[in-house]
Amino acid sequence: MRTLGEGRIGSPLGGLVTRRGTTEHYVDETDRVLFDDTLALLAARDGEPPSFEPGGPRRQIYFDPSKIRVGIVTCGGLCPGLNDVIRGLVLELTSHYGVRRIVGFRNGYRGMVARHGHDVVELTPAGVDHINEHGGTILGTSRGNQDPAEIVDCLEQLGINILFVIGGDGSMRGAQRIAAEISSRDRRIAVVGVPKTIDNDIPFIGHSFGFQTAFGKATESIRAAHTEATAQPGGIGLVQLMGRHSGFIACYAALANNDADYVLIPEVPVDVEAFLPHLRRRVRERGHALVVVAEGAGQEYLTAVGTDASGNQRLGDFGVHLRRRILDDFAAAGEEANLKYIDPSYVIRSVPANPYDSVYCLRLAQAAVHAAMAGRTEMVVGTWRNRFVHVPIPVAVATRNQVDPDGDLWMSVLEATGQPVTFTADVAQQAA
Ligand code: F6P
Repeated sequence: MRTLGEGRIGSPLGGLVTRRGTTEHYVDETDRVLFDDTLALLAARDGEPPSFEPGGPRRQIYFDPSKIRVGIVTCGGLCPGLNDVIRGLVLELTSHYGVRRIVGFRNGYRGMVARHGHDVVELTPAGVDHINEHGGTILGTSRGNQDPAEIVDCLEQLGINILFVIGGDGSMRGAQRIAAEISSRDRRIAVVGVPKTIDNDIPFIGHSFGFQTAFGKATESIRAAHTEATAQPGGIGLVQLMGRHSGFIACYAALANNDADYVLIPEVPVDVEAFLPHLRRRVRERGHALVVVAEGAGQEYLTAVGTDASGNQRLGDFGVHLRRRILDDFAAAGEEANLKYIDPSYVIRSVPANPYDSVYCLRLAQAAVHAAMAGRTEMVVGTWRNRFVHVPIPVAVATRNQVDPDGDLWMSVLEATGQPVTFTADVAQQAA
């Protein structure tokens, strides 16, 4: 874990750390949180087992709270809980550490580049009152990275000692470049990330904040589609949910209602030709069917349409494609289809965080402040096996968290839906 230097200043939270040492959930700051959680996994390791540095307050800190200035930036697409994290950072910095100067950058990394001409926002406890009751971000956001040299120029000019980046994997790659630029100038500025993604696609951090709120909101669309489907002959509910490369939202939202007959996700390729007769049989047998798709599924049937400012591929619309294919297939077979298509799109990510996510956002913000005050840098905060941990940014961006087609979650989806492991030609023949 990269650290700017030794902590030589007594932390205002030092007393709390000593008291926590008596509880079973405590991990001492010199201890490590194990990556593996079964004996078999541990036994299969050669040498030192992989582990994370625990999060939480340190007895000694690196930065003198009365002397430093802190910057906060939110980047990328919206996510429930952004305002909770901003407020959590501000309150933890001010109330517990006594930091007096905090600024927010407007509209993502753009707000840190002189050419874009954005002012900065002074962030105070009074100024962030009630912001957690609203979706979005009070700082604004944008996609795309900026020149790290220009960003570090900005940090130097403002005398920023700690930068908190709340963003997704692209923004964390940007944070890594900013940390590298800071090192090359031999400056002591900490860069700490709070990973943000409704898709839950950042690895090694447990569930990402906002994910639970997003899939919770998505269940409303699934319920509506199910109600419509069961109300008429040949009823088919088709719901498309966000999830570019990872189908977690589709899986969790479908499991929450437990009414879906099919869940299609990017991690498990679907043969649409074989899926359609299966769907027809389901409708014949049960009178209706409910299909939940993640937007990144079935992309092999569509043409990609370039990339966005973050470098993400702009996806073809699989939901709309599938709707057409279903209607054509039922018509060709002379079978009745009353299809209702719902795509809640941004509705699931622009809402305020639910109480669970609000708690989680606050605690992530607290952990991020503890890490930064202790001089940690080029890292993100996450949870691993219910403990707050520090994850180096290069590790957090090296891979993508995805639904494992051989794992527990997908197994639960197969059990709940009854859909086959794969839609093959023989399954199709039996169904037709
Ligand atoms: O990355 C999160 C996400 O919500 C994806 O599921 C979705 O494809 C994407 O953002 C859309 O965001 P925007 O339209 O803001 O680029």
